Amino acid sequence: MALKATTTNRVPSFLAMAVMNATREIEAAGGDVIHLEVGQPSTPPPDAVNLALTSALSDVATHGYSLAFGEWPLRKRIADHYGDFYATVVDPSNIAVTPGSSLGFALAFLAAFDRGDRIAITTPGYPAYRNLMLAMGLVPVEMPARAADGWVPSIEALETAGEPLPDGMLLASPANPTGVVMSDDDVKHVCEWCHRKGVRLIMDEIYHGLTFEGRPSTALRYSDSVIVVNSFSKYFCMTGWRVGWAIFPDELMEPVERLAQNLYIGSPKPMQAGALAAFDDYACLDGHVDRYRENRDILLRGLPEVFLGNPAPCKGAFYLYTDISGLGPNPDSIALAEAMLREAGVACTPGVDFDQQQGHKFMRLSFAGSTADMKEASRRIGDWLPNYLKSG
Ligand SMILES: Cc1ncc(COP(=O)(O)O)c(C=O)c1O
Repeated sequence: MALKATTTNRVPSFLAMAVMNATREIEAAGGDVIHLEVGQPSTPPPDAVNLALTSALSDVATHGYSLAFGEWPLRKRIADHYGDFYATVVDPSNIAVTPGSSLGFALAFLAAFDRGDRIAITTPGYPAYRNLMLAMGLVPVEMPARAADGWVPSIEALETAGEPLPDGMLLASPANPTGVVMSDDDVKHVCEWCHRKGVRLIMDEIYHGLTFEGRPSTALRYSDSVIVVNSFSKYFCMTGWRVGWAIFPDELMEPVERLAQNLYIGSPKPMQAGALAAFDDYACLDGHVDRYRENRDILLRGLPEVFLGNPAPCKGAFYLYTDISGLGPNPDSIALAEAMLREAGVACTPGVDFDQQQGHKFMRLSFAGSTADMKEASRRIGDWLPNYLKSG
């Protein structure tokens, strides 16, 4: 007898993770793969973080549950980070430590919106926003960002779209997959527009720290109503540790706390103890940013031109989003990614993960790995592509 399983709540898959699974199989069978598919630093966090975790593991105080919003020393340290990094005052009691920013989004969606509410997101954009919204009965409203406009969506277009304004808006800067970094003026403008129009703004600042031309300000400077989501996963090189944070306005703190208690009780305590030391070595972390810049330039110089159509500006994060239309009349980024993985041993993510309409024409390449890997990936793709084009 068929047992009950949801028919309405099917979350689309996250292709980057599916590619990662395929690479694991190839590697388990002895294959050698260069990883340009997943956005995770190849370097460990600063030594102090590892030491803090190791000592926390043998401290019995870290064996129990954490408070739902995280342990006070970490919340206070995150608040200090806003002073050090952005000269902005944040009250630690508005900070929720979360198991990765992924849970920060879940809390924000559940605390700020009701089923059926419409939330504007940029396309191309990070797939989990849309997928999670669909799973929660929220309605993503796509704001297209195109190469011709510098990959920046027009929020004013929402006013002329002939539909009611959305209930919420979620923007990321630096953005995944385009690497676009909004100017401080643009962030201020969006904050003010959303506040004026009654649109709840969520800013994803998870790629903050990873910018190649100066340091952008936080949206918290410009709005009291914005929800800011951040994480230790990217700049701090702690992807698998699953620690992030979100900053909520006063009126959402109570519902968020109840949700956190019931969703995950609290974030892992030993990881929080490690994360506490993450802010002590900005110099080490900024060294990785220099490497990412070099990696980006190696790919831009080394990859075949036909593979690099309209590369998004890539002023932040660690991705190139390239238009592969030059490869033929019917580009298919999934088929290309599969062939490149099997035949050239280079993994990358098809654009359909980020844009269901136009994504077949795009590829996302992550340059978070080592510089040697970027050189080797350019060589492999350069050697393989002519044969692929001949065969197809
Ligand atoms: C734009 C963006 N936001 C959020 C996340 C989730 O990160 P985490 O849950 O590791 O903090 C990612 C992961 O790649 C991302 O690219």
